[in-house]
Amino acid sequence: MVAEYSLSPQGEKFPLPARGDYGKEFERLKALVSQQRSLGREIVVVMGLGFVGAVMAAVIADTEGKNGKPTKFVIGMQRPSTRSYWKIPLLNRGIPPVKAEDPEVAPMIGRCVNEKKTLIATFTYDALKLANVVVVDIQCDYVKESLGNIRDGQADMAALEESLEIIAEHISPKTLVLIETTVAPGTTEQVAYPIMRKVFRKRGIKSDPLLAHSFERVMPGRQYVNSIRNFWRVCSGINEEATRRAVKFLKGIINTDEYPLTVLDRPIESETAKIVENSFRATLLAFLDEWSLFAERNGVDLMKVIDAIKVRPTHNNIIFPGPGIGGYCLPKDGALGLWAYRHIHGFEDDIFKITPLAIDINDTRALHVAQLTRDALRNMNRPLAAAEILVLGASYREDVGDTRNSGSELIVRRLTEMGAELRVHDPYVPHWWEFEKQDEYPSPTHSLKRFFRGQERLANLRVEHDLKKALRGIDAVIFAVRHQPYLDINPDEMVNVAGGPIAVIDCFGILDDAKIRRYFELGCEVKGLGRGHVKRIKDRVREERERWTAEGRVREA
Ligand SMILES: NC(=O)c1ccc[n+]([C@@H]2O[C@H](COP(=O)([O-])OP(=O)(O)OC[C@H]3O[C@@H](n4cnc5c(N)ncnc54)[C@H](O)[C@@H]3O)[C@@H](O)[C@H]2O)c1
Repeated sequence: MVAEYSLSPQGEKFPLPARGDYGKEFERLKALVSQQRSLGREIVVVMGLGFVGAVMAAVIADTEGKNGKPTKFVIGMQRPSTRSYWKIPLLNRGIPPVKAEDPEVAPMIGRCVNEKKTLIATFTYDALKLANVVVVDIQCDYVKESLGNIRDGQADMAALEESLEIIAEHISPKTLVLIETTVAPGTTEQVAYPIMRKVFRKRGIKSDPLLAHSFERVMPGRQYVNSIRNFWRVCSGINEEATRRAVKFLKGIINTDEYPLTVLDRPIESETAKIVENSFRATLLAFLDEWSLFAERNGVDLMKVIDAIKVRPTHNNIIFPGPGIGGYCLPKDGALGLWAYRHIHGFEDDIFKITPLAIDINDTRALHVAQLTRDALRNMNRPLAAAEILVLGASYREDVGDTRNSGSELIVRRLTEMGAELRVHDPYVPHWWEFEKQDEYPSPTHSLKRFFRGQERLANLRVEHDLKKALRGIDAVIFAVRHQPYLDINPDEMVNVAGGPIAVIDCFGILDDAKIRRYFELGCEVKGLGRGHVKRIKDRVREERERWTAEGRVREA
């Protein structure tokens, strides 16, 4: 039989564990756990070593008591699939299995694995047998069947449901199971509880599972660890004992003295809090889309309008959406709410208007950038088909390397469909897997590729890290993300390196009026999301140029 491998992003091959490895691995865990218990440490199994679970596992493992001694021993548990198994051996070397911009992540994982020896990773579900607490950090996706219509889709509960069954088959009745996954409201009580209770009864366990929910509010970026440890949490258990245990556990690892815990009556309230929190933000972002179009068509600079409004303390969280919102959570979380209303709670009517509309707007806003690019090139008498277009920024958020659901992906896909040649630069993104592995990432059926034609060649798209090289010979540049290195790009240098006037598209209010003016003076065309005033600047530059030419003619005469 040919051995199966799991390939790390760095290209290292790890053979998947063979059947005989499981028993040995459990013996290793038992020995470690008995040693750790003798040191008085609580045993915590974190299930799912993804973006959230890997860092959460390390934060728990780094916890110290008043005497400065570690209080927890953490086993990170990850499925040994060809896709994800590599995370286990990597973490066991003390190397983060996820890419994080926070400089604290790598040393914290290294310290917990190699010095404090409070963190290990494993592939065997038997680890669950040893746990005092199980933290569930596996994904619960929402699969969209069409672009811009979240009603056409469903929650993908399979991995979560399977994991809950496995947990119930392995844990001791006294183990606390803390679900941190963002779930469809109602999941803990109406999906997890019945699944686990049924398995408990089959095992002859008379008590109810100790289940609680507490959602993650982590923020990718340089403050990642801080956003777990020093931030407010909400939690709720299915009964008094589960709530008490969840509160005790969270107080032990999170700075609840400065960031007090909110304890809600029922898990559905904790689950709803997460969904409403993210739907609120998605709505806030989507709200400005129509005003952005209004501004473009009526000579208004929306960025200045926003700054003018923001001085009111009641309105200081008004925020410009850029080319959509992206990330893992905001594009899906509201949809989990709609889905739960029908499929968990059984309601037939349709009460949701704002949340689905907001997500649909955010999911398609980037397509407008393609129109602006087309129009800017047309004003320069250049056809979009075959134009060389550079997109600055691949990630969904400034100064992070996370490309999940980024607006830039849609921009690249639509412009490619329209026949343009695309290049991409991003200082934080080594590989843009959504393109490089577009037939399998994020999963074979999930790629946005399916909503566009002519996408095959995008599998060859590579992220350029040398800005000058990326700029050479382009017809158009799109400022798609507010990454720090893009904020100070000088128009003269840009045009010089590009080799002549280009179309410049500003998706995020990156260009101030002086820069916009300079681009026009250099013969460029400028357009921007929500930036209707550029036409005024263009007219002024043209008038001045005409006046100078006329004055020159008079002098010559
Ligand atoms: N990423 C964020 O910024 C963020 C922020 C707040 C909340 N969340 C929520 O946190 C949850 C986890 O998100 P993520 O970004 O870490 O997802 P992820 O996809 O990066 O990680 C999930 C991990 O779970 C593993 N897994 C799946 N089934 C498993 C099983 N049966 N046993 C063991 N491991 C299993 C997967 O292989 C993967 O490594 C989601 O509900 C998400 O909505 C994420």
